[in-house]
Amino acid sequence: MEIIRCEELTKIYRSGLSAVHAVDGVSLSFEQGSFTAVTGKSGSGKSTLLHLLSGLDRPTDGRVVYQGSNLFEYDDNQLSILRRRRFGFVFQAYNLVRELTAHENILLPVMLDNRKPDMDYVNRLVEMLGIEDRLSHLPGALSGGQQQRVCIARALANKPAVLFADEPTGNLDGKTGREVLTLMRTVSSELGITMILVTHDLGVAEQADRIVRLEDGRVAEDSLGAVIL
Ligand SMILES: Nc1ncnc2c1ncn2[C@@H]1O[C@H](COP(=O)(O)OP(=O)(O)OP(=O)(O)O)[C@@H](O)[C@H]1O
Ligand SMILES: [Mg+2]
Repeated sequence: MEIIRCEELTKIYRSGLSAVHAVDGVSLSFEQGSFTAVTGKSGSGKSTLLHLLSGLDRPTDGRVVYQGSNLFEYDDNQLSILRRRRFGFVFQAYNLVRELTAHENILLPVMLDNRKPDMDYVNRLVEMLGIEDRLSHLPGALSGGQQQRVCIARALANKPAVLFADEPTGNLDGKTGREVLTLMRTVSSELGITMILVTHDLGVAEQADRIVRLEDGRVAEDSLGAVIL
């Protein structure tokens, strides 16, 4: 069953006379519970595509359809509620709130939604990520890898339907990166979460059900339907 798709998605950045087609007519459909890796060279449009798919940024043209509705037909308030309830994000820039502890950051999306966090589940996430002794620290007192793991816990805390992650293991060493990815996959498959993950790391991409490679804002390769020998 499809959960989210994009149709002819296009984002053009203009400055003066020049225009960059960061995402150029991309159409993709994602099955519920699937794990897709988006790869491609630096500047190929991976982050832009993720921002559009997750409703964080508006396209120049095209649509994103989540469970049958076009995201960009929602007003800003409706869209932010949908994003908070149904989507989880791990972005290249950590976006942690500097004045809040790691623990408060993790619980923030659930709190903003006036819901009670599932503390058994959150504690399990924290433990699996190995950040249980860092919870009372402010982000400034955490290493890059620890901040990244806090972001992953935050993204999963509200049990999202779709998890969008931009290089979620980029600041972790190889072994830790693989462990964190395994955790994301375990939690996602338990909860039926759809994962769309940007990565440069072929070892990470190989763990996905599907690899989509972008080149100059277009889909250059899509392993979906490819025969795996
Ligand atoms: N806000 C912006 N204004 C102008 N151009 C932009 C903007 N954001 C991205 N671009 C351009 O769009 C293209 C795609 O950028 P994007 O960040 O999506 O690439 P990426 O594949 O995520 O690269 P990386 O692997 O380095 O993170 C690049 O040429 C970039 O310079
Ligand atoms: Mg990027």
